[in-house]
Amino acid sequence: MFERIVIVGAGQAAVQAVDTLRRRGFAGKLTLIGDEPLPPYQRPPLSKKYLAGALERERLLIRPAAFYADHGIETHFGRRVTDIAPRERHVRLDDGLAVPFDALLIATGSRPRALELPGADLEGVHYLRTALDADRIRAGCTRGGRLLIVGGGYIGLEVAATARELGMEVTVLEMAERLMSRVTCPEVSAFYAAEHARHGVQIRCHERVRALHADPRSGRVRSVLTEAGGEYPVDLVVVGVGVMPADELARAAGLTCENGIVTEAHCRTSHEAIYAAGDCASHLNRQYGRHLRLESVDNAFEQGTTVALNLLGTETLHDKLPWFWSDQYDLKLIIVGVAQGYDTVVMRGTAAARSFSACYLRRGELIAIDSVNSPKDQMAARKLIAAHARPQPDKLADPAIALKDTL
Ligand code: NAI
Repeated sequence: MFERIVIVGAGQAAVQAVDTLRRRGFAGKLTLIGDEPLPPYQRPPLSKKYLAGALERERLLIRPAAFYADHGIETHFGRRVTDIAPRERHVRLDDGLAVPFDALLIATGSRPRALELPGADLEGVHYLRTALDADRIRAGCTRGGRLLIVGGGYIGLEVAATARELGMEVTVLEMAERLMSRVTCPEVSAFYAAEHARHGVQIRCHERVRALHADPRSGRVRSVLTEAGGEYPVDLVVVGVGVMPADELARAAGLTCENGIVTEAHCRTSHEAIYAAGDCASHLNRQYGRHLRLESVDNAFEQGTTVALNLLGTETLHDKLPWFWSDQYDLKLIIVGVAQGYDTVVMRGTAAARSFSACYLRRGELIAIDSVNSPKDQMAARKLIAAHARPQPDKLADPAIALKDTL
C-alpha cells in the first residue's frame, strides 16, 4: 500500500483520482499540483455556455474550492512541476520545492498545437484551452465584429456556433477538404457544413493560412492571408488546429512515450509506481486491441477512477468504451466508439430530419456510431459495440427498426 500519492496536473482525471481515493478510504498523504491558478474546472463549457456568458466562473469548478482542504488534500495551484525524478521518487516544483512520492499519477492533459506562421502571435489571436483564454476571447467578441476561426474541428465549430449567438460575423478556414475530418465521416461533415452555413457561418475548406497582418497603429491583428491568395479582414482570430499531449515531463523522466505517455491496460506507465491518465496518456485499449490516446472528458474521468482503484490495491483494467459529444446550435452530436479503420458507413435516418446516425463497420463489426439528436441510437450502440456485434446493414439503414433488433 502506498503512503504518499502525488498527482501532477489538476484537471478532470486528477479530481476523479483524488475523489475516488478519499471516498474509498485512502488515509495517506495526497498532493495535487496544477499550473493553473484556479482549482480544477470543467473545460467543455469554455467553448459553449461559458464563452456565451451564460455560466459563472464558480459554476465551472468540478468540486467547490473548499473540497480539497476538507478532504485533507494538499494543493499547489499555480505551480508548475519542472522535473520528475523516478528513481529518487520526488517531483520538483518551479519554486524549488521537492515533493516526495511513493506513487505518482501524471495527468497533465494536452495543449493547443501552435500555428507557426508570421503574425500568429499578434494581439487578437487566441487559442482556447483555459478559462482565461475563454475570458480573453469573450472580451474580444462584439456584435457585428469579424471573427475568423482557423480549424474546423471541435473547438472551431463550437466557438463558431457560440459567436453567431453573440452576433459576430464568422468565417471558418479549414485546411482539410471537410469539417471534423479527424473524427467523422463525409456524410456527417457535410451535414454540419450545411448547418453552419444556414446559421450564417462562412465555411472555407481546403484553405491554408499564409500569414496574419497587424493594424500598424494598434498592432492588433487586422487581416488573415491564405496560401490561395485570399485576404480576410478580421477583428478577432481563434485558432483550433488540434492539441499535443503534454508529455514532456514524462519523456525527460525516461518513461516510454509515443503519441503521449504509453500505459498498459491498468494505466500504468513503463515505471511500476507511475501512472498516466487523460489526454496525455496512450493506453492499451482492450476493445480495439491497440494503443489509443483519447481526448475526452469521459476518458479522463474513467482513467482517473481506474488509477485510483489500482493505487488502492484493487487490480482494475481500464476497459470502458470511449464516447465524445459536441453541442453546436440545437444539435447534439454523440460519438460512441472509435471509427478509425472503418470500411463501411451505414446511415440511419436522413439529415433532413435533423435526427440521424452514422454507423461505422469494419469487416461487418459495428465499431462506432455518430448520432445527431438521436439519443436512443447512441444508448443502444454502446451495448452492440462493446459486444463486438455484427448488425445487418439493410436493417441498420432502416430507422424504423430499433438498433438492438438489427442483428
Ligand atoms: P480537432 O483535432 O478536433 O480539430 C482541428 C482541426 O483543425 C482539424 O479539422 C484540422 O484539419 C484543422 N487544421 C489543422 N491545421 C490547420 C491549419 N493550419 N489550418 C486550418 N485548419 C487546420 O482539434 P480542436 O478543434 O483544436 O480541439 C482541441 C481539443 O479540444 C481536442 O482534444 C478536442 O477533443 C477538444 N474539444 C472537444 C470538444 C468536444 O468533445 N465537444 C469541444 C472542444 C474541444
